[in-house]
Amino acid sequence: MIDLTGKVALVTGGSRGIGRATALKLAEAGCDVIVNYVTSRKAADQVAEEIVSMGRRVALVKADVSEQDDVCSMMEFISETFGRLDILVSNAATGGFRPLLVTTANNFEAAMNTNVRALIFLVQSAVPLMEQSSGRGKIVAVSSHGSHTALPMYGIIGASKAALESAMRHFALELGDRGFNVNVVQAGLVETDSTRLIPNSDEMFAGRRTKTMMGDRDLEASDVADAILYLSSPFSDLVQGQTLIVDGGAAIHV
Ligand SMILES: NC(=O)c1ccc[n+]([C@@H]2O[C@H](COP(=O)([O-])OP(=O)(O)OC[C@H]3O[C@@H](n4cnc5c(N)ncnc54)[C@H](OP(=O)(O)O)[C@@H]3O)[C@@H](O)[C@H]2O)c1
Repeated sequence: MIDLTGKVALVTGGSRGIGRATALKLAEAGCDVIVNYVTSRKAADQVAEEIVSMGRRVALVKADVSEQDDVCSMMEFISETFGRLDILVSNAATGGFRPLLVTTANNFEAAMNTNVRALIFLVQSAVPLMEQSSGRGKIVAVSSHGSHTALPMYGIIGASKAALESAMRHFALELGDRGFNVNVVQAGLVETDSTRLIPNSDEMFAGRRTKTMMGDRDLEASDVADAILYLSSPFSDLVQGQTLIVDGGAAIHV
């Protein structure tokens, strides 16, 4: 049983999908949770209600993580309100599904700023507060198969995830000796608001069971959240700079 009572966790993009499942999982394990969102206030409110019903403290913070000022203000708020931060889950992402051949400068900036630049400023601004907290600091980022494979319409997001994974390895090198664990969860295909927008998403969802080894069971946001929970806990204190694939076995197929 993972017990994180007394810990404070920030989940970016905690209003929906994998972020939502992670915020709830961390609260179930005992954390007080800061749920970051940018547009979905109603969905964030629902997450907050569930967390409160578990007896934990919760705060909703509207912040666009691609904006450095928003990230800094969010961290100041956490410092003033909770006085500590133990777990940072960098989950928020964006990108749009299109071929690289028609990707514009704006598309590039949106994906890179939200999926990569945000991570760098989040970690930079979280480290001083996390270092004041007792115990090891846990930093987990969410990536995808597109970081090392080629998927249709996924070029710019895949490239951003490759950069994210590299940045996380380098953060592990810089922070490992300072009491942090820095790791990545690489998720297989989960049906969420984002993935429903992928052209031919129905085909992709239907095809999952031919690659995974889980019978009728499809990968869900809570399965990914379980891995994030593990990497947020003392059970993973000796896991450093790694990428944990959670996909029911899909990645080992050619
Ligand atoms: N679903 C999959 O199959 C899959 C597979 C591998 C990896 N992943 C990764 O898992 C993570 C979550 O994906 P998901 O499918 O759960 O997405 P989702 O359901 O579409 O949710 C996206 C979340 O990110 C937030 N967000 C987007 N841009 C933001 C910004 N600039 N600042 C702050 N928050 C922002 C959204 O906030 P609002 O609700 O307020 O807009 C929302 O909470 C992403 O990193 C994604 O790349 C997903």
